[in-house]
Amino acid sequence: MDRQPEEQAAETVRQLRALATPDGAAALSRAASLMADGADAVSALSRLRAEVGTDLAGPAWGVARQRHKARATFGADADRLLFTGDTLEQAGRPALADRRAARLLAPGSESVADLGCAAGTDTIALARAGARVVAVDRDPVARELTLLNTTALGLTRVEVIDADVVDLVAAAADGVVAGCRAAVLDPARRAGGRRQLDPDRWSPPWSTVTALLDRVPATVVKVAPGLDHDRVPAGIEAEWISVGGSIVEALLWGRGLSATWRRATLVGRDAVHELTADQDPGLAPTGPVRRWLHEPDPAVIRSGLVACVAADLGATLIDPTIAYLTSDGPAANPWVSSYRVTDVLPFNLKKLRALLRTQGVGRVVVKKRGSPIEPETLARQLRGPGSGSAVVVVTRVAGAPSVLVCAPLSG
Ligand SMILES: C[S@@+](CC[C@H](N)C(=O)[O-])C[C@H]1O[C@@H](n2cnc3c(N)ncnc32)[C@H](O)[C@@H]1O
Repeated sequence: MDRQPEEQAAETVRQLRALATPDGAAALSRAASLMADGADAVSALSRLRAEVGTDLAGPAWGVARQRHKARATFGADADRLLFTGDTLEQAGRPALADRRAARLLAPGSESVADLGCAAGTDTIALARAGARVVAVDRDPVARELTLLNTTALGLTRVEVIDADVVDLVAAAADGVVAGCRAAVLDPARRAGGRRQLDPDRWSPPWSTVTALLDRVPATVVKVAPGLDHDRVPAGIEAEWISVGGSIVEALLWGRGLSATWRRATLVGRDAVHELTADQDPGLAPTGPVRRWLHEPDPAVIRSGLVACVAADLGATLIDPTIAYLTSDGPAANPWVSSYRVTDVLPFNLKKLRALLRTQGVGRVVVKKRGSPIEPETLARQLRGPGSGSAVVVVTRVAGAPSVLVCAPLSG
């Protein structure tokens, strides 16, 4: 029979504590070496049971698997931290947590409440940045993980408490929550394995997000990247952050930290680029397709700053409802990928295929915006004997379904 959630949580806490003992550390190290040798779960578990005992074998193998997954984002820390599957899935990127902590603490806040700490990613970043942290979670497994993880990293100025964030925020006054002058709130946006699109169904819900922003000016809240702009309260800066061409985080900065209306941030391997606007720049002007097509980074699109990039490039939109820009030259600009346009035609599969054949194009990368086509399917349909390649952009130009054939990206 399935265990009750509380019983299950108590058992997980017991297992985590056992893993934090010297015997547990030995079991974890053995599990890690079996994983590094590529052992499958069945044989690894039977060897672990024989070598470290049945009590430690399963939990050690479970954590070794999570550490293996965590290594790409957590680096060397992954081998010192404990995660469950759920808490690793909810964890943000440590590099972004560091960035958030630095900005949150810049005005001089010394103590920060991490409201919903899970495995402690934000708590760790805040404590490493020098803050005293009150880490809050109503989930006993999350509290244990945060306690064990901060201890493993030698971070001593962390207090982990059991409380409901809704109550703490309701009691916040004079810019203070849970005894702290600053706060990070990262609501759980999944329930039963499914993403909750409606902010009123997050935990804690949207009403707690806005109450915290109103009551504690030194606050940062992690929100869903798809958050409707209309939800962002007046005086609050909203920031969208992209890494490698995908949005990875969206943040709301409280009135004590807010520095602009919207911010798009692109975190690259060697540099961080930021684009800001103090007010809504509106829509960029629309014009005919010119020699170059520019695809804005998703952080620019989500933050509503396409018009700022267009002004910078002397570019226009190809359609008022589509975020593709066009201009006479390529862009030396981190905010867009530029493609040289060779042909523009109304969308017609037969004519498109014929054109590509005459150009000796046998392989295409398909991009689409404002079209229902399936890029992989169209790329297959356009495959041919030619050795050339092209980028095919299926979109709308001034309302008409169209195709822009572009030269492949070099490099
Ligand atoms: C998205 S996770 C936080 C992830 C964390 N910032 C990280 O990067 O690892 C949200 C956490 O909030 C906790 N939580 C949700 N609602 C809560 C509430 N009303 N009171 C206290 N904790 C809550 C959940 O148990 C969960 O651990």
